[in-house]
Amino acid sequence: MSGIHDWDTFALGDRTVTRLGYGAMQLAGPGVFGPPKDPETALAVLRQAVARGVNHIDTSDFYGPHVTNQLIRKALAPYPDDLVIVTKVGARRGTDGSWLPAFSPEELTQAVHDNLRNLGLDVLEVVNLRAMFDTHGPAEGSIEAPLTVLADLQRQGLVRHIGLSNVTPTQIAEGRRICPIVCVQNYYNLAHRSDDALIDELARQGVAYVPFFPLGGFTPLQSSTLSTVAARLDAKPMQVALAWLLRRAPNILLIPGTASLAHLQENLAAAALALPDDAILDLDHLAQT
Ligand SMILES: NC(=O)c1ccc[n+]([C@@H]2O[C@H](COP(=O)([O-])OP(=O)(O)OC[C@H]3O[C@@H](n4cnc5c(N)ncnc54)[C@H](OP(=O)(O)O)[C@@H]3O)[C@@H](O)[C@H]2O)c1
Repeated sequence: MSGIHDWDTFALGDRTVTRLGYGAMQLAGPGVFGPPKDPETALAVLRQAVARGVNHIDTSDFYGPHVTNQLIRKALAPYPDDLVIVTKVGARRGTDGSWLPAFSPEELTQAVHDNLRNLGLDVLEVVNLRAMFDTHGPAEGSIEAPLTVLADLQRQGLVRHIGLSNVTPTQIAEGRRICPIVCVQNYYNLAHRSDDALIDELARQGVAYVPFFPLGGFTPLQSSTLSTVAARLDAKPMQVALAWLLRRAPNILLIPGTASLAHLQENLAAAALALPDDAILDLDHLAQT
């Protein structure tokens, strides 16, 4: 089986990663809460992703909580030298599985230590501060206080690089006055393109943009245009959605999530899917239809 080592790459902090990575959130139980239904398959998905050349895995200790990080450690430690594990802090889970803000200095410090312990690392390569002013999308509000705490943890050597998630351009500008920001992780896909201008701006600056929900997340993408284009190319709709994102901008790093080995294979194969100009044109118009 061919690997993905010759894929296009992009900088993430001071590392270089292949542009098609893997998001681990789907490996926890239903609702990203509790253990997976099938732990052996979860471990196999992680191992297969890395065996196929994925060297960028996105996670958080609030997935489960703790579950995906513990699976990553069990499946992959000792980690390959080129593997970049990106995690995020700023939220916690209620006992009912709800997603709650966790921005206090104590909660942020605890979250960094929880990630280190559960991943079995001495230093976290990239930590995204996940804004929670509105759980479902970016909303204005100062990130100065929590980011200052994270920057302190960086100075202590526990965090190598810092990114931001679920943020507005104003918050990115505010963040840069506190510490270097190596990536932005926001909601973006074929059908949800609020960040078009931001992506282009970050591309000009050489900063990675990592779309979460690249396949639609909890509501997987469905569109007749997508299905028609996929049929024309003899590909799967989700492969076309990923190939379009790879074409959209050179700074886009993908972290599609799946708990299925078959879907993992499909998603990784999207890197080799060439999209002809007429397909791109149809897909570009999809958000407006
Ligand atoms: N920063 C944030 O706030 C934030 C928020 C959400 C997610 N994230 C990160 O972003 C990553 C990606 O997001 P996501 O996993 O929520 O959503 P996603 O990648 O958009 O979609 C995942 C969904 O698509 C399905 N799927 C995956 N590959 C498929 C295929 N080839 N064919 C059909 N269905 C397929 C998965 O089901 P199966 O398991 O059945 O394949 C799952 O239901 C997460 O893993 C997480 O690391 C970050």
